[in-house]
Amino acid sequence: MSSVISEIIDNELEEHKKSAACEDEDAAGLRSVFLNILELKELDIRDKKSAIIDFIAAGIETLANTLLFVLSSVTGEESAIPRIYEEFREYRDTNILQDALTNATYTKACIQESYRLRPTAFCLARILEEDMELSGYSLNAGTVVLCQNMIACHKDSNFQEAKQFCPERWIDASSGNFTVNVDSASIVVPFGVGRRTCPGKRFVEMEVVLLLAKLVLAFDVSFVKPLETEFEFLLAPKTPLSLRLRDREL
Ligand code: HEM
Repeated sequence: MSSVISEIIDNELEEHKKSAACEDEDAAGLRSVFLNILELKELDIRDKKSAIIDFIAAGIETLANTLLFVLSSVTGEESAIPRIYEEFREYRDTNILQDALTNATYTKACIQESYRLRPTAFCLARILEEDMELSGYSLNAGTVVLCQNMIACHKDSNFQEAKQFCPERWIDASSGNFTVNVDSASIVVPFGVGRRTCPGKRFVEMEVVLLLAKLVLAFDVSFVKPLETEFEFLLAPKTPLSLRLRDREL
């Protein structure tokens, strides 16, 4: 995989060399993250390549796992797929527009609920910079602390009927809008928190809605066998998977 990515980066470098001569000031704002990395003077090319490979690799399995978890959740809930389909029905034959993404309350609630139940990054790691006390434990600087956010999300003390897939908990009862302003929402952190938050978050949040909408519009999706998970470095689907996609009859 990294040799393929390395080749892509070499091509990008060549393109960059060609286009550098004709770049104007306005174009600077549009430069991709990759080109910005490539331009860092203090890094040598191997470090630049490795930073870009990290960037690409960080978004491959995480996104694929997340999408499978969302699909598994929504296919397990009888009314979910028809409701998602309804939110995007008018875009069957056209591009999905920003408005649809903004208004897709139920779809976003399903995704948020899937993040709560099966976050592919199921725990967050930090190395303490200074001595501190956490829950009565005195910890020295340098200690590795794992925040088991998925375990916390599965506790009834944090979410009512915590093990149940219930997208409605993310829909405000009075306005009918998607909301993350609910008790304990701050422990649902699929992209991490603070300074090391995932830089792909914004992109992924849009991408998962789009991918789910496009799949539901085009196919009847079902799992032949229920999806099981296993702990690798990430929370991952157990393979082989048995997923069935049938062209949707209009
Ligand atoms: C569903 C998809 C994704 C999930 C669930 C995810 C999740 C995460 C999480 C939990 C972290 C650690 C944050 C922390 O420690 O607080 C992280 C870091 C990171 N992610 Fe993502 N990510 C996803 C997609 C992406 C994509 C598409 C990219 C590339 C654009 C990306 C690039 C990175 C990078 C470079 C870091 C390291 C940031 C740092 O250490 O400062 N991720 N991601």
